[in-house]
Amino acid sequence: MATYRERTLFGRHLVSVADLQPEELALVLRTAAEMKDGRSELVATGKTLALLFEKPSLRTRVSFEVAMRFLGGECLYLSPAEVGLGQREPLKDVARTLSRYVACIAARTFSHSTVKELAAWSRVPVINALSDEEHPCQALADLLTILEKKGRLAGIRVAFVGDGNNVAASLCLAAAMSGMHFRIASPTGYGLPANVLELAGGFAKVAGGSIEPGLDPLAAIRDADVVYTDVWASMGQESEAAQRRRTFAGYQVTSDMMALAHPDAIFMHDLPAHRGEEVAEEVIEGPQSVVFDQAENRLHAQKALIGLLLSKASV
Ligand code: CP
Ligand code: NVA
Repeated sequence: MATYRERTLFGRHLVSVADLQPEELALVLRTAAEMKDGRSELVATGKTLALLFEKPSLRTRVSFEVAMRFLGGECLYLSPAEVGLGQREPLKDVARTLSRYVACIAARTFSHSTVKELAAWSRVPVINALSDEEHPCQALADLLTILEKKGRLAGIRVAFVGDGNNVAASLCLAAAMSGMHFRIASPTGYGLPANVLELAGGFAKVAGGSIEPGLDPLAAIRDADVVYTDVWASMGQESEAAQRRRTFAGYQVTSDMMALAHPDAIFMHDLPAHRGEEVAEEVIEGPQSVVFDQAENRLHAQKALIGLLLSKASV
C-alpha cells in the first residue's frame, strides 16, 4: 500500500472516504492545494478516464473532464442509455471490458453496491462519483475549502443540518479522520446510518475529534465554524419529495440559524441547492456563503486525486 512518503495512491479505488488512511486523505488535500497553486507536476498524459453516469451531473462531470484535460488526458462520457449498467450485460463484464480500454473509471450510480462491484472487477482505479451512500469526491473538495477558509481542519466545528445522506456520510468520515468536531441534526429516521456513525466515531477517537448526531438544528449550529446542508430529497428519491418537504420543514438553514453559529462561520452546500427548502435565499447568497469556492475546489481536488491514482512514480 502507498504511504504518504511515496506520495502516490497508484492503482487504488476510491469508493468510500474510508478507503483512504487519514494521512492519505491529507496527501490528497495537500496535492489539491498544490494543483490549485500550479505547484504540482502530476500528469495523466495520454490516459483516458471513463465517466459512467446513471444520474445527471453538472459539477462532477465537468470538473472531471476539465481536470483530465488539464493533466494531459481525456474523458469518455458514457450515459445511462449507452451502457445500461447491469441491464445489457452483468456489471462484472462491464468492469472487465471497460478497464481494458481506459486508465480510470468514475462511476455515478444509484446503488452503492454497483460502484463496489465495478471496483471489485476493474483492473484500473474506480472512483465513486456519487452513490446513494457516499460522495467522497465532494468531501475532498469540502475539506479543501474548509482548510483554505479556516487555515486548519483539526478542531474545526462542522454542523450539518438535514438529511443524513451520501454527502453527509462522506463529510462525516472525512471530518472524523481529520480531527474535526462534526455535529449532524436530522429528523427522526433520517440521520446518518449506524455503520457510518460507528466508523466515524472510531476515526474521531484516533484523530481527536468528535461525532455528535442529534435532532435539534439549533443545538447543532451553536458556535459552529462551518454550517453545511444538502437537499432534502436526493436523486432517486423524487417520489418522496413532498413528504420530505413536510418532515424537514424545521431544518431550513435561515439567517436566524446562522446567527447562532460562530460570527466567522462559513455556509457550505455541495449544490445543486433548493432555495426555500434546505436553505434560505439570503443565506446561500449571503456573505458567509462559500458555495462557489467549494464548487471550484471539486476541480482541484479531482486533479490531485486522478494524478495520485494514475502516477506510478512518487512526486
Ligand atoms: N455536487 C455535485 O456533485 O454536483 P453535480 O450533481 O452537479 O455533479
Ligand atoms: N444528496 C444529493 C447530492 C447531489 C450532488 C443527491 O444525491 O442527489
